Amino acid sequence: GWKMEDVLEEEIKVIKGMVGPEDHVICALSGGVDSTVAAKLVHKAIGDRLHCVFVDNGLLRYKERERVMDLFEKRLHLPVTCVDATEEFLSKLKGVTEPEMKRKIIGKEFINIFDLFAHDVEKKVGKKPTYLVQGTLYPDVIESCPPPGSGRTHSHTIKSHHNVGGLPKDMKLKLIEPLKLLFKDEVRELGKILDISEDFLKRHPFPGPGLAVRIPGDVTAGNSLDILRQVDEIFIQSIRDAKIYDEIWQAFAVFLPVKTVGVQGDQRTHSHAVALRAVTSQDGMTADWYYFDFKFLDDVSRKICNSVRGVNRVLLDITSKPPSTIEWE
Ligand code: XMP
Repeated sequence: GWKMEDVLEEEIKVIKGMVGPEDHVICALSGGVDSTVAAKLVHKAIGDRLHCVFVDNGLLRYKERERVMDLFEKRLHLPVTCVDATEEFLSKLKGVTEPEMKRKIIGKEFINIFDLFAHDVEKKVGKKPTYLVQGTLYPDVIESCPPPGSGRTHSHTIKSHHNVGGLPKDMKLKLIEPLKLLFKDEVRELGKILDISEDFLKRHPFPGPGLAVRIPGDVTAGNSLDILRQVDEIFIQSIRDAKIYDEIWQAFAVFLPVKTVGVQGDQRTHSHAVALRAVTSQDGMTADWYYFDFKFLDDVSRKICNSVRGVNRVLLDITSKPPSTIEWE
């Protein structure tokens, strides 16, 4: 029950007091709600001494890079460097099928790219960046250390956390975590005050390793990424059109590395199957599969097979968590 206007004002005051006039601050944007709200808030406090980067790892959704860069630049007026690291990520993932190995490679490559960015900033401003902004929320904090007793401490030692992509090693950055005492719904409220659109603030979560955890096996094989992007976009757009997006915690398509026989037109086809997954959840720890109505499923299945080349079968994932996880890997 805090007033978010007061929280915002207080946070800005604290950040202004903490970050000296010569200090520079870096931030990796994921395109998600938390990092965007955190960056916008810090930008309000210190302006262009904040340097943000958005990394396209080649594992993003349909037009995701264009969409978030447009939001950052045109709507939020946040200075963001976009790095296209598709080649770097995909070449390292080639032939890798083991899920944990895929995650490790992606995490490590992210550190490399972020490290390069930090050094670019250093070259540009003539000084090593001092601070790193992270969109850590209160539930993440209580997961990794005891809750803060009184007052607000704004920098603590760097901990590993699944959203922490990794840190430039030789920089000894101090953390700025302006959302660290807030819950998700409070972050959304703060985002509204910062003039971030409600549509964006209600976006479903998206995992750091991206589409790699939605393509079992080698993500670089064939045109699986391209097919998955198209199927996912149709599914999400249909969910938006049906006005059920906000009832769902997460919805997405999964590419199956399986070919089955179909018949399309007068042609026998031997094409891929895809799965659709949608769940409701409070926090992602447990989840229930979402009950679509049959008409919706029928429409979306037809639409996918009619418009995505290389797909002739659509399956629905009807498992909850547990026993399944939300993602497929
Ligand atoms: P699972 O699949 O474990 O997912 O049931 C629970 C929630 O966490 C998200 N998720 C991730 N988020 N990096 C992230 O930032 C990850 O490596 C990662 N793995 C899973 C998932 O999308 C779901 O919301």
